[in-house]
Parts: sequence; structure tokens; C-alpha cells
Amino acid sequence: MSEAKKLYIKTYGCQMNVYDSERMAEAMGGAGYVETDSPEDADMILLNTCHIREKAAEKVYSELGRFKGLKEARPDLKIGVAGCVAQAEGEEIMRRQPLVDLVVGPQSYHRLPELEAKARDGAKALDTEFPLDDKFDTLRKRGGKAKRGPTAFLTVQEGCDKFCAFCVVPYTRGAEVSRPVARVLEEARDLVERGVREITLLGQNVNAYHGQGPDGRDWSLAQLIWELDKVDGLERIRFTTSHPNDMDDDLIEAHGTCAKLMPYLHLPVQSGSDRILKRMNRSHTAESYLRLIEKIRAARPDILMSGDFIVGFPEETEQDFQDTLDLIEAVNYGYAYSFKYSTRPGTPAAERDQVDEAVKTDRLHRLQALITRQQRAVQDAMVGREVGVLFEKPGRLPGQMVGKSDYLHAVHVSDSNLQPGQLARVEIVESGANSLAGRLVTATA
Ligand code: 5AD
Ligand code: SF4
Repeated sequence: MSEAKKLYIKTYGCQMNVYDSERMAEAMGGAGYVETDSPEDADMILLNTCHIREKAAEKVYSELGRFKGLKEARPDLKIGVAGCVAQAEGEEIMRRQPLVDLVVGPQSYHRLPELEAKARDGAKALDTEFPLDDKFDTLRKRGGKAKRGPTAFLTVQEGCDKFCAFCVVPYTRGAEVSRPVARVLEEARDLVERGVREITLLGQNVNAYHGQGPDGRDWSLAQLIWELDKVDGLERIRFTTSHPNDMDDDLIEAHGTCAKLMPYLHLPVQSGSDRILKRMNRSHTAESYLRLIEKIRAARPDILMSGDFIVGFPEETEQDFQDTLDLIEAVNYGYAYSFKYSTRPGTPAAERDQVDEAVKTDRLHRLQALITRQQRAVQDAMVGREVGVLFEKPGRLPGQMVGKSDYLHAVHVSDSNLQPGQLARVEIVESGANSLAGRLVTATA
């Protein structure tokens, strides 16, 4: 038998890309590939790319340049570009970087083995179509039954119809599509059989989920969560990313009543200025967002809120930025991601009056200082509390295990009886730089 070929995948960007890379690795497993951690050993290199900000796309070209030597030494090496840069600039990539043999957009991953075969025959292979079949279903059938770690992502919805004025997602990932409930359940049960105890449901607009239910009607995300709640062996459910306008009452209520749904919610608002929110085409105000959070906290008082912010959106004034800082003060985030506005060609905001780069940098620093203070305070306030922890892997010290709390904080506990995949009640005793230290109260299976 010939030796297995080796595949090196590098993943950029969001959790959906992480999920997609896993599915591509499984699909290529069916075509005789095993994964490797080093590009030097690989027969095929695949970059799963992100197009959300300019820097993310530029990184891909510089990374490709670095493979030149490898390709010259081994002309048989195949180099592929997948993901959102592939979708947006497929033909351009082929032109600009002749090293690339294969380009595959996010909706065509199930065709990867065929594209690889085409590239092996010496042809350039490009597929950036938006086919209507369920690519994940095809991918999963090709994949094996390998054991998995305790946590996994599961894509339930893809694409976005919101068209925020700064964002490329509606163009790269296309219109909103939800996978049917039966498919999601089948995949969830399969993951649980393979050792998974926590599933994070993924979608660019996951709370707009409207997949076909077993009764033929469209089901909401709350309905899907309640169905997953019945899956024995699945202990924790999370979902990301949500849009404020799709946070319906059933979903809010589930945060108070579904024990498996974890008390952490990523709910990007982008700005605290109504003037800017309007220009961003967000269709909500700062006030409506704050009221929504009040409702969510009424259902689940201890929920940890997380958000995304863009500073320096075209025409943002110092007052607009102050409004964002005020909103952050009012919410008290446990976690937040913040970015300088980055012009994306083809999006409406790219054509408008841009904010000076130095001003953007200054605002980003000020916003991040505030967020860091809040994060720190929220994390420190965990000391003395008892929380659930799902252990994932050994820690740095002997006898130590590391896992995530219900609130998604990293927690380490020294107890040599703990195993990866184990759930426990833990008392938090110390708050460190990036993690919490805890003491085991009760370990469950
Ligand atoms: N510039 C900066 N940040 C952006 N995001 C999306 N598009 C842009 C852009 N053009 C941010 C938003 C979004 C997160 C995934 O990335 O905050 O919520
Ligand atoms: Fe992009 Fe999210 Fe807005 Fe959709 S809702 S356009 S994915 S920022």
C-alpha cells in the first residue's frame, strides 16, 4: 500500500472557518490524505482564508509567497486557497500568484477531492459556485468516525441578508441559508457518539436560523436548541454570532429555562451612536440594544455579554465615539472584540469619507483600555463563586487540567483524578492574567 499523502491546512478568521477546515480535512481523508502540522512535509497546502478586513486578505498573499521555495523544491506540491478570499478574488489569486493550483469557495468544499484530482492532472482548478445541495451532508458522509475532543462547532446557518454597510459577508458567504433540523440533529448525535459534550452552533447570523423542521415548517433557533436539549450525552449548548434584531422572545426565554444553554451571549452592536448605526445600516439603535440586554438579563441575570465594535467608521466624530464608550459603560461586557474600520471594496461604506488612520488608532486604544478594565473586573468577580467547568486538556503544571467555565473563562484545577471531557463544579479561588484557578467541589462523569 502506498504511503498516505499529507495535507497541511492553515486557517484564518472566524470559527466557521475552523469548522470548515475540519470538514475539508475529513473529506480529503477520503481521498487518501492525512493531516500534518508542517507545510514542509505536505503534498498539499490549503489556506482557508478570511476576507473580513484588508489585512486578513493581504496576509494570504504574503503567506503564499513564502511557499515559493517549497514548490520549487517539489513541483508535485499542490497549493490551494479556500475560504472567503477565494470566493471574492478567485480568478485574481490565480493571476497574481501562479503557485496556486486550486481555488475553492466556501460553498464548494464538497467538491474538493475532485478539484484536487484535477490539479494533480496538471490543470488549474477553480470552483466558486453557490450550489444548492447541502455541502456539509456530503462532506460528513465522506468523513470517518474518528474520536473527537469534548467541544465542537456545528454550522447550522450560513450567509447573511443584513448588508451592514461595512461588511463583505453577504457577498462572500452569500444569502442566508439554514440547514434542516434533522441534519443538525443527526450531526449533533454523531458528534456526541464521538466524545463531544459541548456544541457551539455556528452561523454568520445564527439567531436568524429558520431551518426546516420535521413538521415541514421553519423552526427557530430556540426550537432547535430545545430539540438539542433532548440529546443524551450533550451537556452544553452555545451559539454564535447573533444579530440584535433576531433575538426573539423564545430565544431570550431559553436562556433562563434551558439548563444546557450556557450563560454567555455574543451580541455585536458595532457602535453606540445612532447616527453611525444608521449609516452602518444596522436597523437598530443604541437604546433598543440596551433595552434588549435588559430583557436578556431579566431572563438570565448572570449572563456574560460579549460584543464586537468598529472604530473609525466613515464620518465617525469624537462625539459618536464617546457614545460608543458610553454604551460599553452601560452594558459592562465580559468580553469584546474591537477593530479599526477597514475599507472593503464593493461595500457601500468604502466610497464614503474616511477617518484618519491616526484617529482610528487612538480610538481603538481608548476603547480597548475600557474593555480590558471591564473584562478584568468581570473575570475577577468570579472569585468565590461556584461554576461548572468542562475540562478539555492537561494544563502546564503536572496534575493540572484546563477547561472552560459556563461563562467561557479558562479555568485550571490541580487534581490528578480529572480527565478531559469531565464536567465538574468548581469554586473559583484566584483570577490570573488570562485564566482562573479553581478548586474541585464535585466531579461528575
Ligand atoms: N472593518 C472592520 N471590522 C469589520 N468587521 C466586519 N467588517 C469589518 C470591516 N470592514 C467586524 C465586525 C464584525 C466582526 C466579525 O468583524 O465587528 O462583527
Ligand atoms: Fe456582516 Fe454581521 Fe452585518 Fe451580516 S449582520 S452584514 S455578517 S456584520
